[in-house]
Amino acid sequence: MKNIVLIGFMGSGKTVVGRLLADRLGYKFIDTDKIIEERIGKTISDIFNDEGEHYFREIESNIVKELSELSGHVISTGGGIVLNQDNLTCLKKSGLTVWLKASPESIHKRVVSESHRPLLNVKDPLKKIKRLLNLREKFYSKADISINTDDLDIEKVVENIIDVYHKGEN
Ligand code: S3P
Repeated sequence: MKNIVLIGFMGSGKTVVGRLLADRLGYKFIDTDKIIEERIGKTISDIFNDEGEHYFREIESNIVKELSELSGHVISTGGGIVLNQDNLTCLKKSGLTVWLKASPESIHKRVVSESHRPLLNVKDPLKKIKRLLNLREKFYSKADISINTDDLDIEKVVENIIDVYHKGEN
């Protein structure tokens, strides 16, 4: 298989797991949000504020099309990438898709002190996390495999993914 694609909600560990995974496999690590920020020259929060979420989603879809042509990459994706069916289809064709799964409470603990996620800059972030997760789980569950990151034992999560990935190559 060409790539490993990490999907999952904000704060599910995609960046931290993705970096170690790429390191272990000798793959390159890329993050869709980082590419968007570099292309537009603004932070994700500023893009949401100035241009709106719809614009952000368009750029995100264009990036998905480009990235799916790559190989030898670990691709970490923004939490809402799965909302577009074409994105999911494209990502599934480009490699092993892995859903990093976490409970609303774990996610809340991880994101509560951060401010760079515009969708969670609300009065009651836990309520919003629960609502969005509820809406999105059916899309995340289309991934090839899912791994729970509530304990976030990064080493174990990475080993698990590598095992499945290598089995798929035989
Ligand atoms: C989003 C998740 C963010 C980022 C944007 C929207 C979402 O990425 O793409 O703020 O809709 O869940 P992370 O999942 O990397 O935080």
